[in-house]
Amino acid sequence: MPYIDSILKEKRVFYPSHEFSRKSHIKNMAEYSKLYKKSIESPEKFWAEKANELEWFKKWETVLRNDMGFFKWFEGGRLNVSYNCLDRIVKSGKGSKTALIWEPESGEGKKYTYEQLLKEVCKFANVLKKLDVKKGNVVQIYLPMIPELPIAMLACARIGAIHSVVFAGFSSDALKDRIRDSNAELLITADGSFRNGKIFSLKKNVDIALKECPTIKNVIVVKRTDNNAYIANGRDAWWHELINKKEIKDICEPESMHSEDSLFILYTSGTTGKPKGILHTQAGYLLFVYLTFKWIFDIKENDSYFCTADIGWITGHSYIVYGPLSNGATVVMYEGSPTFPKPDRFWRIIEKHKVTIFYTAPTAIRALAKEGDEWPNKCNLSSLRLLGTVGEPINPEAWIWYHNVIGKNKCPIVDTWWQTETGGILISPLPGATPLKPGSATKPFFGILADVLREDGSKANPNEGGYLVIKNPWPGMLRTVWDDPQRYKNAYFEKFGVYLTGDSARMDEDGYFWIMGRIDDVIKVAGHRIGSAEVESSLVSHKDVAEAAVVPYPHEIKGQAIYAFVVLKKNAKKSGQLNDELKKHVAERVGPIAKPDKIQFADELPKTRSGKIMRRILKAIADGSKDYGNITTLTDPGVVEILAKNRLN
Ligand code: WTA
Repeated sequence: MPYIDSILKEKRVFYPSHEFSRKSHIKNMAEYSKLYKKSIESPEKFWAEKANELEWFKKWETVLRNDMGFFKWFEGGRLNVSYNCLDRIVKSGKGSKTALIWEPESGEGKKYTYEQLLKEVCKFANVLKKLDVKKGNVVQIYLPMIPELPIAMLACARIGAIHSVVFAGFSSDALKDRIRDSNAELLITADGSFRNGKIFSLKKNVDIALKECPTIKNVIVVKRTDNNAYIANGRDAWWHELINKKEIKDICEPESMHSEDSLFILYTSGTTGKPKGILHTQAGYLLFVYLTFKWIFDIKENDSYFCTADIGWITGHSYIVYGPLSNGATVVMYEGSPTFPKPDRFWRIIEKHKVTIFYTAPTAIRALAKEGDEWPNKCNLSSLRLLGTVGEPINPEAWIWYHNVIGKNKCPIVDTWWQTETGGILISPLPGATPLKPGSATKPFFGILADVLREDGSKANPNEGGYLVIKNPWPGMLRTVWDDPQRYKNAYFEKFGVYLTGDSARMDEDGYFWIMGRIDDVIKVAGHRIGSAEVESSLVSHKDVAEAAVVPYPHEIKGQAIYAFVVLKKNAKKSGQLNDELKKHVAERVGPIAKPDKIQFADELPKTRSGKIMRRILKAIADGSKDYGNITTLTDPGVVEILAKNRLN
């Protein structure tokens, strides 16, 4: 059943056990409601109280200030994010607690205590300093899921450099675009990465990208695969050689950072062409991921927490690195594919590391459910006490499978809704308190005023679909779009004057949110955020393509997949071979995750008289709904019929 139909019919409710509630941070809905009310009525008081749980070098002067639409939190305050994630935990007596468990795809893993992680971070911070990286400089990071990735991020945070991580599954072109936008001077990468037992030559991508990135002066390369990567004289150096030099000390004073200094840039797709660099700053972001992680994942001293996201996306930034470490938690990070060598890999990791909290994406749940219950049933999953999902709507069927087969009907599921821009989770159950409805992200977190609006800005009725908006600022929100403040204003605040999420949703009669998906040109393929514009421009960069339009269609496992309509140039011939070549071309230009599942050749695309391609109509063709709406404004309404007739099944 398609997601929308199944969530409209969903009526089941699941309650946390008394046992779970009794031990949790927020124990019932009365407590939630009371605290929620307080957080909305006196947000500054609420956040200031919580900010006291972090360690400050200097306390703030103002909690919140609206500077012409740009929000500033905790101005006048000074702290250091890496200090709060490492030194603060060590000082509290937990230096010998495991901070990070690294599970490689094959071979021996590694563990770091908080003390060891602190030393590694300090050493690498000193390496960066030696290479002349200064506070406020941008450091580009293009690494697979290896410990050097969080170490590099925390080292940047320690010396006040701004990190910009690019997902290692992106191609050289995507990397190049991001470097050219951030103007980074130093890049950290690896010779290669492992996935499904195969080696991907990351360094090759880097070498291609750097031909057009004059700002990069130094490249640090982690040896991961031993695949004889090219090391350019004067520019490139091995991580292990730099860090093992005698003069590199394992102590590095943390830089005293202003609350609103930049912490990181993370590029994400928006409605128009170029990916935007979402900027997060120090104190507000740290506080928000600290508190959401603590309460939503109900973290306890002995938990072992496993998040399957890649650190190249926001989920990894906030809920593998900064949220868990600032809480002194033990985090499991995994390098490879969920099905390597067999489809029980996640379940084996849970068994091996006695994972108590497991956080993954609906796509993974659907894919692994399809492999059969025998895989999880062979493993001991009894350590689990809490499950989470993120990245896309979860259909109730997948939710129920997750609850029964993985959670053995005893683990609450936190369906967490949020975005790169929001920094942390905004809508989610609190596991000890919130009654769960499969498919709903339930209620807003403290301090978050979420609502559903109609096109004219009025409030939608219960169960009426509309624009999901956030009506007040929160500490973890993006501060701007890197190098493009106007885009920040236009993309997020122009339409309603409050934060526009880009999602549609409905709120039911109990105030529960049901997220329905993106209403802009962003496509969530297997939970990955892809801009249709990025895929389209890579298609038209092919010599045979004149025009391209890309839309999502529902996919059983991936949630959404990409359907491309392509108009070829006059002398190019439509063929299966060219079709395959175009798919490959997108994989090479953007990354394999952006590869269209279907490419339909067309002679013409539906356009308005002003020449605008009507994606709404193409979407209704691709998903087979035939819900075209008004087509009389098209230059040639006949186009629709022809395209629909040739639709690929
Ligand atoms: C979608 C990922 C439904 C949504 C953290 C949002 C979700 C986009 C959920 C942001 C959820 C995320 N239920 N949809 N629980 N979580 N989304 O920036 O469309 O990669 O706008 O951040 O993912 O994707 P992003």
